[in-house]
Order: sequence, then structure tokens, then C-alpha cells
Amino acid sequence: MDTSTMPYRRCGHSGLLLPEISLGLWQNFGDGAEPAQARAVIARAIDKGVTHFDLANNYGPPPGAAEERFGALLEKEFFSLRDQLVISSKAGHLMWPGPYGQGGSRKHLLASLDQSLKRLRLDYVDIFYSHRFDPDTPLEETMGALETAVKSGKALYAGISNYTAAQSAEACRLLKGAGVPCLVHQGLFNLLQSRSEDVVDAVENLGIGFVAFSPLAQGLLSERYAGGIPADSRAAREGADSPLYQRALTEQPKIAAFEKIARSRGQSLAQMALSWLLHFPQLTSVITGARNVGQLDEQLAAAGNSQFSPQELRQIEAIRLGGDPQPSRTVVA
Ligand SMILES: NC(=O)c1ccc[n+]([C@@H]2O[C@H](COP(=O)([O-])OP(=O)(O)OC[C@H]3O[C@@H](n4cnc5c(N)ncnc54)[C@H](OP(=O)(O)O)[C@@H]3O)[C@@H](O)[C@H]2O)c1
Repeated sequence: MDTSTMPYRRCGHSGLLLPEISLGLWQNFGDGAEPAQARAVIARAIDKGVTHFDLANNYGPPPGAAEERFGALLEKEFFSLRDQLVISSKAGHLMWPGPYGQGGSRKHLLASLDQSLKRLRLDYVDIFYSHRFDPDTPLEETMGALETAVKSGKALYAGISNYTAAQSAEACRLLKGAGVPCLVHQGLFNLLQSRSEDVVDAVENLGIGFVAFSPLAQGLLSERYAGGIPADSRAAREGADSPLYQRALTEQPKIAAFEKIARSRGQSLAQMALSWLLHFPQLTSVITGARNVGQLDEQLAAAGNSQFSPQELRQIEAIRLGGDPQPSRTVVA
């Protein structure tokens, strides 16, 4: 593993450093993935200093398949590097039938963690997340399950994902009170979708890290979509009725405008999308997906390149907002 070209950022106020670019295994690593290609992406990531691999119980397809594949590969080829890797898993979304197969209950979270550890062939994960806020379960119970996961040694750190700013604050208060401070919030954030913008500010105040998922808006933020929808893309695979396909159609003008700025910076659109996220000092890492080594290599070139001129940031903000440039906090980085 060569860590000399990958910058690492501190995760909130914790002692843990994460690479600017982390690899997520949500798609591309399930049973349908070509084994040699999936292995090559993981091997290249490790080689290039991507120390952080993001998984969840339900990643595949089918659910569980990504953990199975990653666990088998880790055991066979990379186990000597275990202490150089940060491996995350999550629970909360539908995983098995019946009342305990999803949600935020203690029953679901701790049973799911045990299942994940078996698939991953590990004694512990580094980060265990509550994958989503569950309005039907007391937050005390969900955070209590994360506390147990850490205190039992099955996870080193606790994280939350897809929580609002207010839910994050309450979750952090409960975890701190239990002596297991929350490490990180994982949320959706990219040039086209800013669902997490207020959360990014909130988590900075809470002293926890923020990692952004789907930084390329599932691939829309790349040249491949500039002239339409490529036949071998995720949007095409999901079909014309899917939200991703529909967004690919409606976001065409923004994608083309972002691409023009990327080119003028000497970057591809995918690289600028990552660089722009990394220009936020509050961001710890971006969790990308890559279907092949070429895509990963293109992404890795964005690491360490998060400088933007004030004019570039104003242009980007104008495209994001779909109107005139507004004064923006993105300019301050
Ligand atoms: N916490 C949560 O709720 C949550 C939710 C979603 C994701 N996540 C995490 O975030 C990770 C990343 O999500 P994501 O897969 O949506 O990330 P993404 O980086 O936005 O999209 C990845 C897709 O973009 C395309 N792509 C990647 N690099 C490219 C390049 N250089 N040029 C052209 N196209 C490129 C590929 O799609 P094609 O197949 O079209 O080529 C690839 O599969 C997940 O694996 C997971 O770990 C977490």
C-alpha cells in the first residue's frame, strides 16, 4: 500500500484519519459483478492508499453479497493489511423478512452486525453506522445499540447516516453521555444534490466528521452523461422509469455547464465534482463508487486538488442554484 500520494484528513475531533477518497461497495461488487474486475478495483484502491472501505448489510445485489465478496477477498489476499484498513458497515434498511429485519431497534442493529461480521469474516468493523433515523424507535434505543456494539468490541467507532441536523445533535448527545462519542455522519452531498448542506455545518459544530456519499450523483457528474444516457451506465441499467434516469435527462444543462468549468481547470467533470466537495474544510472524505479501475484512477487524481478560484466557485454556485451567482459560504474555503 502506497500512502504517499493520498492526503488523509482527521475525522472530526477524533484520532482517526480517513483518506480524502474512500471506496464504497454499494453497487458494482454484488453477485452480478465480474469477479476479476471487482477484485482489481479493490486491489488498486488498497495499492493507492485508499484505506477506507464503506459497506453495509444490504449492499449487493443481492443484499449481503458485497460483504461476502469483500470478506472473502480480504481473508484470501489482504488480511495482513487489516490494521491498515478502516472497514465500515451499517444496519437499518430492509435486510430480512419480519419485524426485526430493518429499522433502528436494538434487536435489528445487533443481529445485523453479527451477520455482517460473519460475511466479512472479521472480529470487528472499524465503524458501525445506524444507516437511517427510525421515527418508530426511541433514539435512546438505537444509540444504545451502537454503544453496545462499541463496548462489546464488535465495532471501534459509532456513526450515523442520513440523519437531519437536529437528529444528529440528539444522537451525538446520547452517545457522548454513554461514553462512546459519535465519530462521523455519512450523508448525500454532490454538485447536483445538496440534501446534507445544513448537516455539514451542524456536524462541524458537533465535532464529528462528515463523509459524503454518491459524490458523482451515481455517475451523472461525468462526461459520459454529457451527450445523453450511455447504454452501459447505472441509469440505463435502472431503466427509463427510474429516478436516476429521469434526473439524467433533466440535469443535462447543469452537467454540460459544470463540464465546461472542469475542462477550463484541466480536470474531468468527475474529478471536479470530487475536488469541489473536498474544498469544504468540514468534509473528511468522499465515498465514491467505481465499476472499473479506469474510473477509480480518474477519481484518485482528484485527491489533493481542492483549490478553486473565487470566480470558479461563483460560477459553480450559479449553476447549482440555477440562477445568478449568490454570495456563498463555498467561497470561504
Ligand atoms: N449511507 C447511505 O445511505 C449511502 C447511500 C448511497 C451510497 N452510499 C455509499 O457511497 C458509495 C458511493 O455511492 P455511489 O456508487 O452512488 O457513488 P458515485 O461515485 O456517485 O457513483 C458511482 C458510479 O459513477 C460512475 N463513475 C464512477 N467513476 C466514474 C468516472 N471516473 N467516469 C465516469 N463514470 C464514473 C459509475 O457508474 P456506471 O456504472 O454508470 O459507470 C459508478 O458506479 C456507496 O458504495 C456506499 O458506500 C451510502
